[in-house]
Amino acid sequence: MKGTQTKRTKAAESRPGKGSVETNQSWEDVADWYDSLVGDEGPRLYQEVITPGVLRLLEMDKHNKVLDMACGQGVISRALCRAGAQVTGVDLSQRLIEMARKRSPGDIRYLVGDARHLDFFYEASFDAIVSILAAQNIEPIEPVFVECARLLRPLGRLVMVITHPAFRIPRQSSWRWDEERKLVSRQMDRYLSPLSIPIDMKPFREPGQTTTRTYHRPLQAYVNGLATAGLWVNALEEWASPKRSLSGPKARAENRARAEFPLFLALRAVRMAPLQIPKTH
Ligand SMILES: C[S@@+](CC[C@H](N)C(=O)[O-])C[C@H]1O[C@@H](n2cnc3c(N)ncnc32)[C@H](O)[C@@H]1O
Repeated sequence: MKGTQTKRTKAAESRPGKGSVETNQSWEDVADWYDSLVGDEGPRLYQEVITPGVLRLLEMDKHNKVLDMACGQGVISRALCRAGAQVTGVDLSQRLIEMARKRSPGDIRYLVGDARHLDFFYEASFDAIVSILAAQNIEPIEPVFVECARLLRPLGRLVMVITHPAFRIPRQSSWRWDEERKLVSRQMDRYLSPLSIPIDMKPFREPGQTTTRTYHRPLQAYVNGLATAGLWVNALEEWASPKRSLSGPKARAENRARAEFPLFLALRAVRMAPLQIPKTH
């Protein structure tokens, strides 16, 4: 497990500007690196945790029309297609969409678009929407929920996966080793405050270079934001990392901590049909 101190770099986290709409173009700059990291079926975390978890929560019928919102280079779109869905993937990054097209079978449709304004789709076009490790990269998030509600048919499902906002806030959470109790625990420095956090991506380690941004929000912002848009959460799962320490004096404690403090939060929300209020006269 990485160090016991919270790592800080020069670029500081901040509160997102009130009412600001951020256009996160940064993924364009790291598209090649991200594509080589993820590949056709994703790293172990995808193959063992995310992809099977998403397919299970989705409870999809064959030929369901599914939108992969902020699809990146299409790792989940391809898994949905293999499972029999009719898939459309949308992402803000032109470069990642080109990579998605190259890596995927021709029956997946990929489009460049901003998840907050997908005017090119008619309402109720999809049986299901997935959004994987992307909601945390979009600010503000409420327009995305409104678009999801508009694009889903009544009782359609949204499955959203984010890094766990209660335990895995970049720069604001860290592992701690308690020598006396021989325990690894998770320290949280902040939680309730929404934060805009710069992330230095690995291959771009020049000092001060920041290439993507994570927007931290507490869990209530997700559940209440979804409900306000007409999307009611009917499943919540917390997924642990499958990583294991095999040797070293702290291996047992590290494995226990990984199993206790989840890495991902998965939410499934259902699009409620508009209420039919009977006329009284
Ligand atoms: C961590 S990547 C995840 C990509 C993909 N879902 C996956 O699992 O590999 C985050 C993605 O969000 C996309 N993104 C960020 N802001 C967006 C927006 N406003 N609309 C659509 N996509 C956006 C980025 O271009 C990037 O592909």
